[in-house]
This record gives sequence, C-alpha cells and structure tokens, in this order.
Amino acid sequence: MTTPYDAVFAKSIEDPNAFWAEAAEDCHWYKKWDKVLDDTNKPFYRWFVGGEINTCYNALDLHVDQGRGDQYALIYDSPVTNTVKKYTYRELRDEVAKFAGVLASLDVHKGDRVLIYMPMIAEAAIAMLACARIGAVHSVVFGGFAPNELATRINDAKPKVIVSASCGIEVSRVIPYKPLLDEAINMANSDSKPQNCVILQRPMETADMAAGRDLDWNEAVAAATPHDCVPVAATDPLYILYTSGTTGEPKGVVRDNGGHVVALKWSMKNIYNIDAGDVYWAASDVGWVVGHSYIIYAPLFKGCTTILFEGKPVGTPDAGVFWRVISDYKVKTMFTAPTAFRAIKREDPTAELTKKYDLSNFKTLFLAGERLDPDTLHWAEKHLGIPVIDHWWQTETGWAICANPMGIHHFSVKEGSPTKPAPGWDVQVVDAENQQVKEGEIGALVVKLPLPPGSLPTLWKKDERFISSYLEEFPGYYKTADAGFIDTDGYVFVMSRTDDIINVAGHRLSTGAMEEVLADHPDVAECAVLGVDDALKGQVPVGFLVLNAGVERDHEEIIKEVIQSVRGRIGPVASFKKATVVKRLPKTRSGKILRGTIQKIADNKDYKVPATIDDPAILGEMEDALVGIGYAKARK
Ligand code: COA
Ligand code: AMP
Repeated sequence: MTTPYDAVFAKSIEDPNAFWAEAAEDCHWYKKWDKVLDDTNKPFYRWFVGGEINTCYNALDLHVDQGRGDQYALIYDSPVTNTVKKYTYRELRDEVAKFAGVLASLDVHKGDRVLIYMPMIAEAAIAMLACARIGAVHSVVFGGFAPNELATRINDAKPKVIVSASCGIEVSRVIPYKPLLDEAINMANSDSKPQNCVILQRPMETADMAAGRDLDWNEAVAAATPHDCVPVAATDPLYILYTSGTTGEPKGVVRDNGGHVVALKWSMKNIYNIDAGDVYWAASDVGWVVGHSYIIYAPLFKGCTTILFEGKPVGTPDAGVFWRVISDYKVKTMFTAPTAFRAIKREDPTAELTKKYDLSNFKTLFLAGERLDPDTLHWAEKHLGIPVIDHWWQTETGWAICANPMGIHHFSVKEGSPTKPAPGWDVQVVDAENQQVKEGEIGALVVKLPLPPGSLPTLWKKDERFISSYLEEFPGYYKTADAGFIDTDGYVFVMSRTDDIINVAGHRLSTGAMEEVLADHPDVAECAVLGVDDALKGQVPVGFLVLNAGVERDHEEIIKEVIQSVRGRIGPVASFKKATVVKRLPKTRSGKILRGTIQKIADNKDYKVPATIDDPAILGEMEDALVGIGYAKARK
C-alpha cells in the first residue's frame, strides 16, 4: 500500500536540492543561497552555500515581526524552586538582545566560542540564543559532568567567555556549580582559559566571584546595550556539542546555521505534526542534543510555546508532575526518553495520577534516546490513550533518522521499531564488506551520503577524526554505530551499538572512558566496563577489576575508590555504582575481552561458550562475581 510518505521520501532522496530548497523558503534569509547542496569537496557536503541567515532571528524576531510578539515563547517551570516564569516572544527577544549586548561588550564576536555550563533555567536558553544572535558559537556542557570533563571541553573549544550559574538543583540537593567551574578552569590549558565568566547568582547558593574575571549576570544585563542579529553564512557553525566517543576524548559535534534552521523547522510539522501557536514540551536537558533541538531551537523556529522544565519525572514532587505540566500549559506534544516513563511507571503503576489532570490537549508522546521497550510503550499507550511514537536519532544527526512522520502519515506502530527512515535519510543495512544484507538480516545501520541538512558537517577542528569515526569504515555511507535490520515493510529496527557506547537513563556514555579511569588506579592491572540491563535506566555500567599481583588491600575499599574516581573524573551522570574484583577476564586466544558473553551472563541471557575462548572455566568465575553484585541471579 502506498502512502503520502512514499512520494515525500522519494523526492527527498532523488532530488534533495529541490526538496530542501522548498523547505528553506519557510525560513528568513538575509541572502538566499547560491547552491542548495554543495558536493564539490566530498566527503564534506555543505548546505545552502552562499546563503546568509541568523538563527536567533528565525527563532525570535521573525515571530515578533509577523505578529506573534505577545504569544508565549518560553515557559520556565521549576518544581524544585516553586517558580514559573513566562516569556512572550517579544520579552524573550529583548532579554536575548540584552545578553547578546553583554557578550559583545566582553569582546565576543562572530566565530568566537562561548561555553555554557548551566542548569535547566531560562537563562541557559537566553545565553544560547544570544550567542546565535551575534554569530558566536556556543558549547553547552551538561551539569552532571565533573570538572575534568568540563576542562577537556574548555581545552577543545577555547571559549572567550563561560556562562554559568551558582548552582543546579537535583531532587534532594543543591549542587554548587561554581566550585566545579573554577576547578575546571584551573585544570584547563593556559591558552584555553576564558577571559571572563558571567555567573547567574541563584538564591539557593551564592558563588564566590573571581575579581576581574567574573561578572554578575544581573549587573551585566542591567548595564548592557541590546544587540541586533548579525547575519552569518549558512555554513558557519552555530554550536559545538560534545558527545561520548570511543575514547576518553569527547567528539565536538558541529552544527551549522542554515541547514539546522531549515531541517528543524521542517521537522516540526512533518515529524511532530506541530503548528505555530502549539505548545511543545521536550523534557530533557539543554546539555543534550534533544535539549538543543527540541527545547530551544525547533519549537521557536516554528513559533510554538516551548516548556523548559527544571525537575525530574518523579520526586519533584511526585510521579504526576508530567501530567501537571501538560495540563497547566495545554501541551500538545511531549518528547522525552523512555527511562522517564519507566520511572513514572515504577512509582505509579496504574497511572492513578493521570486522573487528577486534564490531559485533553495532549495528542502525541514522542520517545527517543534509547530503545523503547515494549512494556513502556504499551503502558504509555494504555494510560494516555494517544499515539506513542518511538524515533531514533543521535547527537550527530541533530534530528530523527527514523520516525513515524506524524505530519505526513501515521504508520501503525511495531514494537521495537522507530518506524521508517525520515525524509532525507537513506538508511541501509550493510555487512562488514559494505554490502547490503538481505531484508530482515542484522547488519550495520548506515546512511547513504549526503546526510540531510541539520546533521553534522564535521567535528570541531577535527576533519580527520570526522572521517575516521564516521565515513571510513563504510565508504559512501555515514556509520551510525548502531546495528539493526529493516523488515519487509520497510520498518527499521535498532538493536545495539557496535562500539563501546552505552545508554544510561537516556544519557550517552563511553565505557572506554570509564575503563581509562579504572586503569589509572594503582592497584588495577586490567579492567573492563560493560553496560548491563537495568529496569529503570535501560543500562548501567558495571566494572570488572583484575588487581596487580601481590595487592592485599581490602577489595571493597578498592572498589569504593574506583567508584569515587569515575564520579570525580566523569561525573555523577555516569551512574557508575557497581564493580567487582575478578581473578582474570575471559578472553579469546588472541587476547580480546569477551564483552558480549559477559554481558549476556549478567543479563541472564543464553550464551554459547565461544569457540575461541582461552579458558572456558573463567565464565563460571564471572558468573559467581556477577551474582556477588546482584546480577546473573537467575543462573544460580
Ligand atoms: N547536575 C548535577 N548532577 C546531575 C545532573 C545535573 N544536571 N543531572 C543528573 N545528575 C546526577 C544525579 O543527581 C544523580 O546523582 P546521584 O548518583 O548522586 O544520585 C546522577 O547524576 C545520575 O542522574 P540520572 O541519570 O538523572 O539518575 P536519577 O536517578 O537522578 O534519575 C531518571 C533517573 C530516570 C528519573 C532521570 O534520569 C530522568 O529524568 N531521565 C529523563 C530522561 C532524560 O532527560 N534524557 C535525556 C536525553 S532525552
Ligand atoms: P545520543 O547521541 O545521546 O542521542 O545517543 C544516540 C544513541 O542512542 C543512538 O546511536 C542509539 O544507540 C540510541 N538511541 C537513540 N534513540 C533510539 C531509539 N529510538 N531506539 C534505539 N536506540 C536509540
């Protein structure tokens, strides 16, 4: 059966120039592009070459100019501070213009970097949009990362200014951000340290200010002259967002201005079925790509009201808070990670709390960030009575690679599948020889080049790493590093990562980076970190330590130390809470650790003793070790 999707998808692949030119007509340009897709410097593709645009203008000023000035652009709802603050498009534009003035007065201009290390407060959005307004490149770092990770990002981005706040607020504690920031700046290379920091003092915590370097947000804004939008090239960078790679060194994903505005604005109607004036809520964090794309940019490009929520799905104050927000602001579409729904389901299994609220405006729930397990899918469908849509994407891609494109055609949902490739994404499944596999067979999920607008053009100052990470293994394709298959109906199934990335509560983390921390412990000879199944977070990391010969210290003490080191060096967001000491690690005869087998033992899944294993007896030892820390129980 053909659907409207077929023609849209076919056009996007067969004639990307016409397809995206049409979408681009919906955006404001100071100067139209000379070329839609420039493929003269393969494998570096560029979109809307010659065009001049401003991202902030498209997000704010355009709507004021078109008569939406009095509509709410952003609602900040913070159950952890009992605050609600609403900004109309006009008010948000004016606040952003003032903060753009602050940045300009600190000598921040087009192309300069500004690092933003902030909790989920409206000022984080204002700072991001202010950078976009003057053509500066922002790099937002998630608050749950430790100073060491922050320092790595400072060294790579070399920001002129860092914008931060005195604290963030977690369910049961206030987290002072400034000491973490100061420590990171101390750790950073001397040629990377910022000239200035702008700090928002929150009432719960007052930060110490470094004289001459640190400015108070409110004082700086009060003294600022509003700054207008600065036209930039469509191909100029809008932001850098660091994400876990296969080593401790994160990858600086670059997003350009032109392609990003075009693709994200287009996605609001076609993927999410959202119109201007609708209320859209992505319950994520501005530190992640979902926060960039769907808390800040796309809803504002589209002229929606976006919700910026400083809270958690449970505990702030209860598992009904999502329903409260949906009802208070008449949210039409919500987007979050399955883990948030697992947390709600655990606290309120029969969804009693939904009955307290009017959810009649709520039309669609979108989930992404990790595999959507069937239990969570069906629970949400049953208790909300609306379509629950899985979609698959990555920091690199900036928007959905696969989705049920609700504004084009609503396909029936298949458990475990984010449905079909989104227009622009020529998704294929290949084997190790880069040959397409048969329908239904598992292989590497790849996307035929060029990637559509809005996806990463390169890694920050690392073109070579961009090629080696994504383009080298499967020539002509972008490697997603996810494995999966496409069924006979053309539905895509995403099964697992093919690298060391794990997904913990929707947060992307590298086990390799954790192994680097463990290996630095003086008593550790060898180690492995694996992601094992977790009922709430999807996956959690578990460490296996082989100690140096002759170490006689208490194992529990060593375990505590390595857990603390991961928290201290990577951050609490890693959720690294379990490790065990083993005599040896199971390996193949060529010395490769049998990670897949250990994982299966931990997850109580069937496994075959690999023919290449060095010594099968080790698997029994692993089983015992895992039982000792609460896994693999069903085996015993
Ligand atoms: N600043 C400082 N610390 C932070 C932080 C931040 N911005 N965000 C999280 N942390 C800390 C938490 O306090 C926690 O610390 P702890 O180990 O001392 O308890 C740790 O990092 C792990 O956080 P998290 O993974 O969020 O676990 P949680 O147990 O606090 O909450 C969920 C679990 C499921 C409720 C939570 O992960 C959630 O709301 N997820 C929603 C999905 C989401 O936002 N996904 C993002 C991509 S769409
Ligand atoms: P991030 O870059 O943090 O968005 O993480 C991207 C990774 O999360 C992907 O490569 C997948 O492994 C996983 N992921 C995201 N969305 C989905 C989904 N809908 N289904 C399965 N895995 C997903």
